[in-house]
Amino acid sequence: MQLERLLRAQGFGSKADCRGLVRQGRVSVDGVVCDDPNADFSPAGFAFAVDGVSWRFRDKVYLAMNKPAHFECSHQPRHHPSIYTLLPQPLVTRDVQAVGRLDEDTTGLLLFTDDGQFNHNCISPKKKVPKVYDATVKHPLDSAQLEALLAGVVLNDEPEPIAAMACEIRSPHVLRLTVTEGKYHLVKRMIAAAGNRVEGLHRVAIGGFELPPALPLGHWMWLTAADLERIGVRGAAA
Ligand code: URA
Repeated sequence: MQLERLLRAQGFGSKADCRGLVRQGRVSVDGVVCDDPNADFSPAGFAFAVDGVSWRFRDKVYLAMNKPAHFECSHQPRHHPSIYTLLPQPLVTRDVQAVGRLDEDTTGLLLFTDDGQFNHNCISPKKKVPKVYDATVKHPLDSAQLEALLAGVVLNDEPEPIAAMACEIRSPHVLRLTVTEGKYHLVKRMIAAAGNRVEGLHRVAIGGFELPPALPLGHWMWLTAADLERIGVRGAAA
């Protein structure tokens, strides 16, 4: 595939943008500048650098971010910066989307992809992909709250009670809660319905994939095939 087309497929802009990048000597392959936009390379495993930043050709993008507080999961944020400002522009240009949304004040694991099938399968309630949260709560936790959450709590506008898939008191004020749906403010509303109040919320895992403790807030990482296996969701490539 021509270098210019490879760059376009990876989100580096229009045909003219990509030809310009190459002609200006800003693209290198194996450490050597390639200034021919028509140079032919095989996409599989193709490694290149633009302005000194290394990239690898990816048919689909899958990544995990440790979302900081005070960022909105929207392209048109209202009160805080968009979570997409924390991604490199080529990923935004190739239309990588957050997998579901976290509230502005929620921190922790947020996936991004441009694989619509994977995104849908992760968030569809029918697929029952576990989402695990640590909720810091206002009042001390007790077994009655735990039992209510496991049995199912009634929420406004929901026809059926919603139950946690798992629930564990980690300390008097920290509850680990697993849910399989992604409704608006779900964890906060469930805990309120059980008689407590969420003061801090952090997502620690999706499926069997845990947020790596070494990933700092606001940073992101590429997901490997093994990570995708752990999430347990099929995408377009599978
Ligand atoms: N449940 C919530 O209440 N908020 C989130 O951000 C995610 C799940």
